Amino acid sequence: MHADGAERLSFAEKLAVEAGQLAKSYLQRDDLGVRSKGVLDWVTEADLATERLIRRGIRSAYPSDRIVGEEEGGESARTGTKGATWVVDPIDGTTCFVSGLPSWCVSIACVDEAGRAFLGVVHDPSGAETFSALAGHGLTVNGHRISVPDKGITDGLVGVGHPRGTPGEPTLSFLRRLFAAGGLFYNSGSAALSLAYVASGRLVGFYESELRAWDALAGEVLVRESGGWSSDFMGNGLLTTSQPMLAANRACVAALWDLAEGVLEGWSRPERYDRQ
Ligand code: IPD
Ligand code: CA
Ligand code: CA
Repeated sequence: MHADGAERLSFAEKLAVEAGQLAKSYLQRDDLGVRSKGVLDWVTEADLATERLIRRGIRSAYPSDRIVGEEEGGESARTGTKGATWVVDPIDGTTCFVSGLPSWCVSIACVDEAGRAFLGVVHDPSGAETFSALAGHGLTVNGHRISVPDKGITDGLVGVGHPRGTPGEPTLSFLRRLFAAGGLFYNSGSAALSLAYVASGRLVGFYESELRAWDALAGEVLVRESGGWSSDFMGNGLLTTSQPMLAANRACVAALWDLAEGVLEGWSRPERYDRQ
């Protein structure tokens, strides 16, 4: 972890709020400048301008750090590279943003030289909430300390995302298993926000079969720091490949793992579900 972690966290919180204000201001415009990147996959002027703002902020505060962002890309940042890497999604939930739905957010994470995500900020401009965490220091929501209540799979909703433009599997198998276990799903349309909801106890867990680092890393830090369990997105040291993601409060990790294990080849069951 970086010695200046607390300073970085406060910098990232302010930057995420500023980025959220800029993105939100685009909703007042008649034309969002929407362009298609694929099936149900859009980029707007707001995504591009917001990523530019975030990059400018990071470059001026931490000129020697690397940046990986959804819209402008960046290096694959294998573990072992020097310095910190910021991983940013200017708008996570663009489909909601374009559709006039409130669930989208700004997501900012920072990864250290060993490839460990040590800082995560998810800012929700619609709800005016900032979820933030630094490894070893716990989760705060708008500055207030929060920890995950341990609830079972049938005591709350499980966030489930589906990577658009992909076949129904393995999401459908996961959902079938979830329903058979008596659970229900919720899709916020933003993976980063869903992970923030797991961290703050509003969802009991979250599963998506394919995410990118900018969707997952900030939320992963939030979940761990709230006392929950999250799969390790950076386990292979790469930022640019997609990975499955599972996160949950400790009371339902085992049950969710069983649902996911059957549909995800090559996952090995974690031995401990307690704080990592
Ligand atoms: C998407 C959202 C969505 C998830 C997709 C992501 P974007 O990110 O997080 O919830 O299901 O897999 O790509 O495109 O809105 O930044
Ligand atoms: Ca995203
Ligand atoms: Ca995005």
